[in-house]
Parts: sequence; structure tokens; C-alpha cells
Amino acid sequence: MITKKVSELLQSDQILQEYKVSGWVRAFRSNRFIALNDGSTLHNIQCVVDFENTDEEVLKQINIGAAVAIEGTLKESEGKGQRVEIEVKSIEILGEAQPEDIKKTILQPKRHSLEKLREQAHLRVRTNTFGAVMRVRSKLAFAVHEYFNNKGFYYVNTPVITGSDAEGAGEMFKVTNMDLKNPPKDEKGNIDFSKDFFGKETNLTVSGQLEAETFALGLGQVYTFGPTFRAENSNTSRHLAEFWMIEPEVAFCDLEGNIDLAEDFIQYVLKYITEHCKDDLEFLENRLLQEEKSKPEKDRSPMPLREKIDFVLKNNFKRVSYTEAIDILKNSKPNKKKKFNYIIEEWGADLQSEHERYLVEKHFKCPVVLFDYPADIKAFYMRLNDDGKTVRAMDILFPGIGEIVGGSQREERYDVLLSKMKELGVDEKELWWYLETRKFGTCKHSGFGLGFERLVLFATGMTNIRDVIPYPRTPQNAEF
Ligand code: 4AD
Ligand code: MG
Repeated sequence: MITKKVSELLQSDQILQEYKVSGWVRAFRSNRFIALNDGSTLHNIQCVVDFENTDEEVLKQINIGAAVAIEGTLKESEGKGQRVEIEVKSIEILGEAQPEDIKKTILQPKRHSLEKLREQAHLRVRTNTFGAVMRVRSKLAFAVHEYFNNKGFYYVNTPVITGSDAEGAGEMFKVTNMDLKNPPKDEKGNIDFSKDFFGKETNLTVSGQLEAETFALGLGQVYTFGPTFRAENSNTSRHLAEFWMIEPEVAFCDLEGNIDLAEDFIQYVLKYITEHCKDDLEFLENRLLQEEKSKPEKDRSPMPLREKIDFVLKNNFKRVSYTEAIDILKNSKPNKKKKFNYIIEEWGADLQSEHERYLVEKHFKCPVVLFDYPADIKAFYMRLNDDGKTVRAMDILFPGIGEIVGGSQREERYDVLLSKMKELGVDEKELWWYLETRKFGTCKHSGFGLGFERLVLFATGMTNIRDVIPYPRTPQNAEF
């Protein structure tokens, strides 16, 4: 017997061929029609049971949620709604599911809120919405690797446990195996981290950038794609405490080249899913349309999902300097009418997400790349411009998402980098290895970080970042 996945059977034209297929019962109508899903596609295959010749005990166990293995014949379907179906010859119940138990879960077929699905995150992958999101996520991840591989980049795995803090103070998770009730102390009564597992204070990484830079200065073009951790207490629909980041780093590349790369990369991976996730995107688009209907008109997204993705594919991102952006914001209606929570008064202000969204959604109405930010509001490693007050930083802002990419050309000049570190209180002893790369054949280089979940949010039209990662980690929440 040939075993096939549901996705393969639905494509097959081997009518009258016998097959075996396993999956979970999504519905069972009239003691006769099983809707079977195995996760290989959004769609179910209809399996028609000959109930007169099926054991009554088995029939009773064909419940929603049960795992079954079916052997039968592929037939053209006489019913509406499907091209082919399976005429069941035999059915084996692999794992039972009792209706009274199922009723208490999100597997019960009716509309459940996304909040409810989060509470049962171990089951939500069996819903159409979350299944579709996870298939798109997986394809996007594949496209990321395909893109960089095609371009001659090497994939590097930077450490998850780190002794340094790449982005600056205070938002890291500590890693220790000390006895927290009775930690070793020094003479002054401070915790003695030299007695800790690594002989020093260690944290979960917030970014693989600094290590990736050292690799770019040897392998030329590299990228990371791994989990990163931030202990910032931002309970928003755009922040996770554990998220996946893609960080390319390229030697001999300036900021323009970096922006070109980011734009080309984003367009490539989005194009990939429009070609490889058609059914799931169509489903997600309809889901979004339904959801939008329940919102007040002013909050509705003006574009259906596919159109939104196509727009990004067909249009160049608008490149605007920070200084231009501040002028636009200063003269904007919400600023003049004091509608922003943070009023933009002068050059140097840090942009809040309300400002970013105004630029993208109201003013330019397309993805925007902001560059040349004030040095004071950006990280120590960004290359100082000749004006002495701005750095070669860039952020890419997306409609409905806000910041999706943050990157820069790196400061490659040893002296400038060192004085910047001193100025910002970055410990040069801790980052001796990073500094040293500026002594041995330093060169112009650039890179960026793209938040993978924010990309998945955009691609799927979901609105809460907790709904695009299998098990979200957020303040007060690490269930599952
Ligand atoms: O702008 P960020 O902090 O940049 C860096 O970490 C640099 N080291 C990247 C680099 O140049 N190699 O973060 C990069 C991106 C953001 O633009 C955003 O998309 C995402 O990571 N991000 C988050 N995503 C989810 N939850 C969070 N808490 C995030 N913080 C940042
Ligand atoms: Mg940033």
C-alpha cells in the first residue's frame, strides 16, 4: 500500500489507485463523511465511510480530534467542494478523542478568539489559522536560507550565551547555575561571579551582531538566524522576550549597499511565499477581511493581504534621512494638533512607533528606510558621519508593523570606536576581541537585523506577534 499525504492526494490524478493516509479527524458528517487533515495542507481530504460495513465500535470512535489511519481508493468526488475523495476500505483508530473532552478545547469546531487559542497553544496548530501561519513561517525561514545561500553568504551560528552586551545596558536575561538562595560572595558582600559556571557574569544574547562582524571580516559575507532574548518589559503586540533574528553582515559594504541588500532580501522572501503558500495566504487574506469587518472603519487596513505583499514587491522602499523625517513630523497635523503622545519639538528626538507609523501609513504610504540618525540615540558601533553628529544607521519601517529592520554601517576606525565606547561607558576590556578586529585589516562593513516574527506578522496579516511564534515568551508568561 502506498502511503500519501493529504496534500499529495488532493493533487493526484491516479484515480482508482489505493492509498493509505493518516491524519486527524476535523469533522464527521452523517456517519459517512470524514474531513481528514494531516497538516500537509490547509485543506482536508474527504474520506467516505461505508458505515453499513464498518464495525460499530470503530464508527463510534471516529470523533473530531481522533488520529486515524485510512486505507482506501482515490475517486473523483460526486459531491461539491472537492475534486477527489477517498472511498474508505479500512479505518484504524490510532488515537482516540472523546467528544466531552474535545468540547472543552479549541478543537471543537466553532469560532474561537485568538486569545483563547493562545491559552491552548499546544493545540492551536490544529486550527486552520495557526496551521496556515506556521506553514508560511516555515517557508519564509527556508526562503531566508535560500536567498543567502544563492548570494554566496555563509550561515554562522553565534553563541546564545554571551559575556557581552551588544546593544547596551539592562535588558538581558542572566544565565547562571549558582544556588540563588546562597550565592558565593566576595569580601565586599557582592555576588562573586568568578565562582559561577563560566567564571564570569553571562547572559542570553540580544543579538549575534558583534560575533557576526568578526566572521564577516574573514568569510566576507555571513548571516545568522537564531533566537535572541530581551528582558525589556514591553507588553506590546510587536515585542517578544524571545524572538528570532536574521543578521547578515558584509565586508567591504557601505550603508547604501546594506539598504539595497535588505530591500532585495525582503522582496525575495515575500515573493517566495506568494509562489509557495498560495492556499494559506488566500485563507489568511479572507480571515483578515472577516476580522477587519468587525473593526471601526478608521482602523481598517486599506489593502487586502495579497495586495499589501504585492505592493512591497513592486515598489522601491522610500529612503528618507532622519533630518527630513523630523521636518515632516514637525509639520504634520498630529504634531501641530498635539495628537501624538510624544510631540516632536526638535532635531535629536527619538522616534516612537506613533511617529514611525505616521511616516509609513499616512505620509509616504509605503515601506520607508530612515537613515543617518543622531549618534546620541543609536548604538556605539555605528559609523560616525563627517558631520560628527549623525551615524550611518538605518531602520526599515513597514506598514502595520513599524520597525522591521535595524542596521548600520559599522565604525571600522579603531580610534573613533574606542573613544565612542569610552563615551558611552561600553566596557572595552569585555569587548577586547571586537576592538582588535579594527587593528588587523579593518575595513568598511555593514549589516542589519531583521526580526523574523515581525516579517511573519507582515506576511500573514496577523496583528499580534504572539500568534506567529509557536510558544511566545512575554512578561509573566512562559507556559508550555
Ligand atoms: O534594532 P535591533 O535592536 O538591532 C539589533 O539588534 C542589531 N544588532 C541588528 C544588526 O545590525 N545586526 O533589532 C533588530 C530587529 C528590529 O528591527 C525588530 O524587527 C526586531 O529585531 N526586534 C524584535 N522583534 C520582536 N520582539 C522584540 N522584543 C524585538 N526587538 C527587536
Ligand atoms: Mg532597532
